[in-house]
Amino acid sequence: MKKITVLTGAGVSAESGINTFRDAGGLWEGHEVMEVASPQGFAKNPALVLDFYNQRRKQLKKVSPNRAHFALVELEDHYDVTIITQNVDDLHERAGSSNVIHLHGELLKMRSSGNERSILDCEGDIMLGDLCEQGYQLRPHIVWFGEAVPLLEKAAEKTQSAHIVIIIGTSMQVYPAASLVDYAQKGVPVYFIDPKPSVSKYDYDNLTIIPKTAVQGIPPLVLDLIAQSS
Ligand code: APR
Repeated sequence: MKKITVLTGAGVSAESGINTFRDAGGLWEGHEVMEVASPQGFAKNPALVLDFYNQRRKQLKKVSPNRAHFALVELEDHYDVTIITQNVDDLHERAGSSNVIHLHGELLKMRSSGNERSILDCEGDIMLGDLCEQGYQLRPHIVWFGEAVPLLEKAAEKTQSAHIVIIIGTSMQVYPAASLVDYAQKGVPVYFIDPKPSVSKYDYDNLTIIPKTAVQGIPPLVLDLIAQSS
C-alpha cells in the first residue's frame, strides 16, 4: 500500500466551527497568543491560561467533525494514511482516522508542570491547585511557543516515507511544523488545500494548489486519489 501523509492545520476544523488562529486578526478568542500559549503567559497568570483551555475544551464538546475529516478516513481503505495535525482538537479521531500525530498536543489531555512525561486524560476543567501525584500543578497538554515538540522526529519520518503529501488549512507560519514538508522525497506529489494558500507553485517540485476550503476541496481530492490507487 502506498503511504499518504496528511499535514493539517486549523483550517481543517474551521468548518466545524473552531476559529483559526491567524484569521482572527492576531487574537485567539480575544487573547494575545503569547498570553495564553507560552510558558511565560502561564507563569504570569496561570488561572487565566487554565480557564482559556477549559473554555476551549467545553467548545470542543459542542462541535463535530466535518466532511473533510470524514473524507480523509475513506483514504484508509486504499492507502496507509498518517495524519500529522497541528490542531489540539480530536476531530480527526472522532471522524475515525486511525493514525493521528498531534504535534502541538491535545486539549483532552493534561500533564504535570513538573514532569512533561506525566500525561493524563482530561475531560473536565483543570483548576489552579489541581496537582499531579508528585505535587506539581497540572496544566494542559499543549505545546506552547518556545517549548520542544516531542513528536517532531516521528512526524518527520512519516513525511519522509510518504508517496503523497496533502497539506490542509495551515498558514505555514509556525515552525517546526511548517518545515515538515521539506522532509518529503523530491518529486513526491504535494497537494495544498487552503482558500488563501500561503505557497506558490514554485515552492515545491510537484505541487498542486487547490484554493478551496477543506470541505469543498478534500472530498473530490480523496475520490481522485482512490481512483488513482486501483
Ligand atoms: N478550509 C481550509 N483552510 C482554511 C479554512 C477552511 N474552511 N478557513 C481558513 N483556512 C486557512 C487559512 O487560510 C489559513 O491559511 O487555515 C489557515 C489557518 O492558519 P492559522 O490560523 O495560522 O493556523 P495554523 O497554521 O494551524 O497555526 C499553527 O499556530 O498558534 C499556533 O499552535 C497553534 O497549531 C497552531 C499553529
